[in-house]
Amino acid sequence: MKSKTVFCCSECGYESPKWMGKCPHCGTWNSFAEFTPVEPEKQPARPSLKRSDTQPERITEIDIHDEERLSTGMEELDRVLGGGAVLGSFVLVGGEPGVGKSTLLLQICGSMSREHTVLYVSGEESARQLKLRANRLGVNEPNLYMYAQTRVEDIVEAIDKISPELVIIDSIQTVFCGNVDSAPGSVGQIRESAQTLMRCAKERGVTIFLVGHVTKEGTLAGPKMLEHMVDCVVYFEGERHLSYRILRAVKNRYGSTDEIGVFEMRDSGLCQVPNPSEALLSGRPRGSSGSCISCIMEGSRPILAEIQSIVTTATFSAPRRMVVGFDYNRAMLLMAVLEKRAGLMLSGCDSYMNVTGGLRIAEPAADLPAILSIASGMRDRAIDEELVCFGEVGLTGELRAVNSAQQRINEIRRIGFKKCMLPFASAKGIVVPDGLELYPVRTVAEAIELCLAR
Ligand SMILES: Nc1ncnc2c1ncn2[C@@H]1O[C@H](COP(=O)(O)OP(=O)(O)OP(=O)(O)O)[C@@H](O)[C@H]1O
Ligand SMILES: [Mg+2]
Repeated sequence: MKSKTVFCCSECGYESPKWMGKCPHCGTWNSFAEFTPVEPEKQPARPSLKRSDTQPERITEIDIHDEERLSTGMEELDRVLGGGAVLGSFVLVGGEPGVGKSTLLLQICGSMSREHTVLYVSGEESARQLKLRANRLGVNEPNLYMYAQTRVEDIVEAIDKISPELVIIDSIQTVFCGNVDSAPGSVGQIRESAQTLMRCAKERGVTIFLVGHVTKEGTLAGPKMLEHMVDCVVYFEGERHLSYRILRAVKNRYGSTDEIGVFEMRDSGLCQVPNPSEALLSGRPRGSSGSCISCIMEGSRPILAEIQSIVTTATFSAPRRMVVGFDYNRAMLLMAVLEKRAGLMLSGCDSYMNVTGGLRIAEPAADLPAILSIASGMRDRAIDEELVCFGEVGLTGELRAVNSAQQRINEIRRIGFKKCMLPFASAKGIVVPDGLELYPVRTVAEAIELCLAR
């Protein structure tokens, strides 16, 4: 009998017997892909759930104990996962090709296999290639099993045989289920493989890390459903030519999503950067105009980063504006505030702004340093190199309070800076650390006057 094929939306999983240009359920264009559903008799028998799990329970009577977490041996990764990987959780790691996903996961395999049994399944590299990389990273533990395999059934069998506590699947796009007829990487295959592996993770209490490829647009390849299915989605980002890599959680059922982990890619693998401020500020120019140090919060962590600007006379009638590492619209808004509220005529000037170290800032607290960096670039006067500032700028040119002022101030002092400019409203109730001078300001004009008028 010929098996029935259906078409499935790769965004929302909507199924239809015929191909459609636009998904009637989620409205996405060109998202339908063909796949053959598993016939009921071919489906693996599901073990019946325990009776207590299937009965409705009173919320007051549900027995909770703290979820057990495994430390991955990398503090930066543990923080992003909310304090370690929860036993039996399902984590998806996405990232551009070559950013270092396999390297990161092989390294955590190395540190975890000292105490636990770990299985690393690769569908992309041969066992020899894996061994070569492991040698380079100094990973060689008897409890670490390497398996070059792509058939999900064989992977589940290996999990049953070895009973590892941690399993890495590199990558979900290369594995396939023998009972689904479509090619590996297709919507149907990803869906079925992920479901089989998830069942395996939940039933046996195994933690599984899946590597996921990203599309040209930078989102995870495959059905959106995959992201719904897993407990955590983390992205590994970084500019190809810069050695810093940032790990960011975009979904986490067991913790917050605004923590980041910072790593540096070296010959010997990824090194953790526990002190990103110092790393980001190394090689900072001294006494140059157009440079201002900001203090931004990445999750619960204050980070000092440098914002640089160049302002030159416009070469064409329409001035050129370029922004790297900062929201473009926000930068245009700040330039308008500078022109209107501080009298800096930027309309005849080309302006360029950059956040050094490949960092991307998305916090209003970086408004004040951004504005000061442009003003310093325009006036061609350097800002005091001992000064760090933060504060949100409003459209009337007022400075507004930002959160976590005390934490930012402590970090500024810890790194060794002596002056801090901040919104007046944020300075209330602050315990000023020894050796730090605070400069509370109310408006952008006042801040510029204080920093640049001499
Ligand atoms: N011999 C080497 N010495 C130093 N760095 C290396 C070496 N080999 C690889 N690298 C670094 O490791 C990176 C590749 O890392 P990795 O293979 O972990 O990436 P990936 O995210 O798994 O990529 P893919 O999506 O292709 O699997 C390279 O971009 C390079 O920076
Ligand atoms: Mg890889």
